[in-house]
Amino acid sequence: MIKRLRHKAFLPESRKGLAVRVGIAQAAQLLDCSTNRIRMAEEDGRLPSPPASDTGRRLGYTIEELLHMRAVLNASPQRADNDPPAIIAVQNFKGGVGKSTVTCHLAHYFAVQGYRVLVVDCDSQATTTTLFGFNPHFNIARGQTLYPYLSIDPTQADLLYAVQRTPWPNVDLIPSNLELFDVEYELAAAGADGGSILATRFRKLRQGLADLARSYDVVILDPPPALGTISLTVMQAASALLVPLAATTPDFCSTVQFLSMMEQVFGQLADAGIRVEYDFVRLICSKFDANDPSHAMLRQIMEGTFGPALLPVPILESAEISHAALRMMTVYELQRPIGTARTHKRCRSNLDQAMAQVEQLVRRGWGQVAPASEEAIVHAA
Ligand SMILES: Nc1ncnc2c1ncn2[C@@H]1O[C@H](COP(=O)(O)OP(=O)(O)OP(=O)(O)O)[C@@H](O)[C@H]1O
Ligand SMILES: [Mg+2]
Repeated sequence: MIKRLRHKAFLPESRKGLAVRVGIAQAAQLLDCSTNRIRMAEEDGRLPSPPASDTGRRLGYTIEELLHMRAVLNASPQRADNDPPAIIAVQNFKGGVGKSTVTCHLAHYFAVQGYRVLVVDCDSQATTTTLFGFNPHFNIARGQTLYPYLSIDPTQADLLYAVQRTPWPNVDLIPSNLELFDVEYELAAAGADGGSILATRFRKLRQGLADLARSYDVVILDPPPALGTISLTVMQAASALLVPLAATTPDFCSTVQFLSMMEQVFGQLADAGIRVEYDFVRLICSKFDANDPSHAMLRQIMEGTFGPALLPVPILESAEISHAALRMMTVYELQRPIGTARTHKRCRSNLDQAMAQVEQLVRRGWGQVAPASEEAIVHAA
């Protein structure tokens, strides 16, 4: 059945591609320049002539062409060499809050904006791997996941082996499959004999990702929904935390528990000599229905509780997101709307706004924007 679903989703080649094309007006907007500047570069040969169909109709630019355009017109948002890459864990111990959905949409948002992105699927459920068009059961072997690096008997000394290309030219993926869960058993067993092996493992993912991250602007980690050893290594490896939660009472209660548990965990890690410091920690409402009064109420409670640590723009609940997921895609990969044009436009512009909040925090880490300090935000909260 999974094979059939994939076949249907990825017709005609039965392999995921990227059909997204961007018109000249949108390209200019993305590059923050005028359409004239692009046209002139095309006329004077700095850029290739605009792609056209057999009938001469303008096709719009592919993501690859956009990246080339950014390079030629000096409009790349990438970090300077001495700026640290952002390593963002999209974490909440509660299941189903939208971690994988946020991870993939954030990755594709950053990709459209022209950043170099690495996504690391740390969850053996492999939702993110699936959304990137891989079938974790058939296409991914244990040796291609984090397992050989994190295992108690590692067969890999760094993480380069695990990096796979995706249909996006500027997004790479470290995939996952069910077998990654073995790390959980192994590390738990090792932890029972004393913390030192565990502490070494914890440092290992951090080191491996820090080395890899040099080739990227943003690394996004999708951890499993549990306080297991993998989640702990992920929290230690990250330089920033994004906590999604839906506007429901169970999600709110679990998230409050998650945050207080984190406090304890950080205390224990500190006792073991491991210091965790984040550039930013933010919560994001991941499935907000503006027409549901209970969501509005919960949002008020969340604002009162989390203060400025809650990002002001929530991700709206949208059939476009769930329909895209059925096709193993994000909304950023849809060439045309699945629902009505209006639903699609609303969803896409909301996602752009919601993700831009995270982009701004990342750029602040590079000293390129200067909003309030992290300390001020935490105090206010
Ligand atoms: N904004 C949204 N609008 C509509 N559907 C959404 C939205 N966000 C997430 N979903 C749907 O909610 C479900 C759970 O999302 P997702 O798999 O991202 O959660 P998760 O936290 O990664 O789950 P797990 O804890 O199992 O890893 C999915 O079916 C997804 O398509
Ligand atoms: Mg998930």
